Parts: sequence; structure tokens; C-alpha cells
Amino acid sequence: MSPATGPFEFYHETMAALGRNGIILLGGDPPNPMTIGWGSIGEIWHMPVFTVLVRPTRYTFGLMENAKDFTVCVLPEGFKKHLAICGTKSGRNMDKIKVCGFTLEKSSLINTPYISQSVIHYECRIIHKHFLDPSALDPDINEKYYKTRDWHMVYYGEIMGTYINSEVAK
Ligand SMILES: Cc1cc2nc3c(=O)[nH]c(=O)nc-3n(C[C@H](O)[C@H](O)[C@H](O)COP(=O)(O)O)c2cc1C
Repeated sequence: MSPATGPFEFYHETMAALGRNGIILLGGDPPNPMTIGWGSIGEIWHMPVFTVLVRPTRYTFGLMENAKDFTVCVLPEGFKKHLAICGTKSGRNMDKIKVCGFTLEKSSLINTPYISQSVIHYECRIIHKHFLDPSALDPDINEKYYKTRDWHMVYYGEIMGTYINSEVAK
């Protein structure tokens, strides 16, 4: 893994993967991989920030609530099945790391490890979080996505490091 030249260097690749089959949010102890399809990368408070959304019904939610940091892992082509497992099965009932055959590597700047099979990954430090506020949400969005009233917790992670695995990217 090599550090990127800047936090946003792989913005387009990351957003494309997010909208395709998803990417992996890895948080908590022990770390549990969860597929995410929503998120954003941007600049807030003069910091590069990765924002991820987690519904409180997810096992990941409890882990994130006790975490200080998380990694976001972009898997290469050929990992569609793994993303489907991490996006439909819960870490409550299954060791998804083991089932998917992922290996974890120590991060450089934070406690949460990353998945070594990733092509790109981000090391993020949680600097803010809040639940979505249904009273301030567009009613159509509220109706469409929150029938079960499980409004997401939004976690803001300062991007401490962005990395590329050139071997996987080849
Ligand atoms: C493509 C895709 C994208 C997803 N995006 C999100 C997301 O952004 N936030 C979320 O809370 N759940 C999302 N999910 C659902 C979770 O990944 C799923 O409920 C998962 O089984 C939760 O795992 P856990 O219980 O181990 O945390 C997504 C699922 C898929 C398949």
C-alpha cells in the first residue's frame, strides 16, 4: 500500500465503486465489514472528511458507537459476491471476515485495520456524528427511505490517510 499524493486523489474511483456494488466500512472491535452504498468525500472545517451513514439496526452501529475511527475499503473487480455477503448478512450471526476470506492489515495512523485485498482504502478519525433529523428532511425522501423509522447516524471521519495498493490496481 502506498500513500496517495492527496486525500482526494482517488475520489472518482471511490465514488464509482460506491455507486456500483458498494464499498466496505470497517469499524469497531472486533472489526466487522459492512457494505455501504451511500457516503461522501469532501472538505469541512478545512479538513478532508469521509461521511458514512449507518442505520441503528445494523450490528455495525453498536460497533461504531464505541469506535474512535474507521476504515473505508474499496475492493477491486471480482469482489461482487463478497460485497453482497457484507451487505446482506450481519456480523451478529457470522464472522464476515472469515467467510469472505479477508485478511486484515494494521493501519498506519488509526486503530481500525483495513482489508488487505482493497485497491484503495481510507483511514478516518471520527470527529462528529448525528442522527438524521426527520423534521428537517425532505418529506419525499423520508417517506421513500425511512418507512421503518430507522434514520441513519451520520459519521464524519477526518481522512487521516488515503492509500492505493498498486499491486491490486495493476
Ligand atoms: C450495495 C449495498 C449498500 C448498502 N449501503 C448501506 C449504507 O450506506 N448504510 C447502511 O446502514 N446499510 C447499508 N447497506 C445494508 C447493510 O450493508 C446490511 O444491512 C448489512 O447486512 C449490515 O451488516 P451488520 O449487521 O454486520 O452491520 C447496504 C447494503 C448493500 C447491499
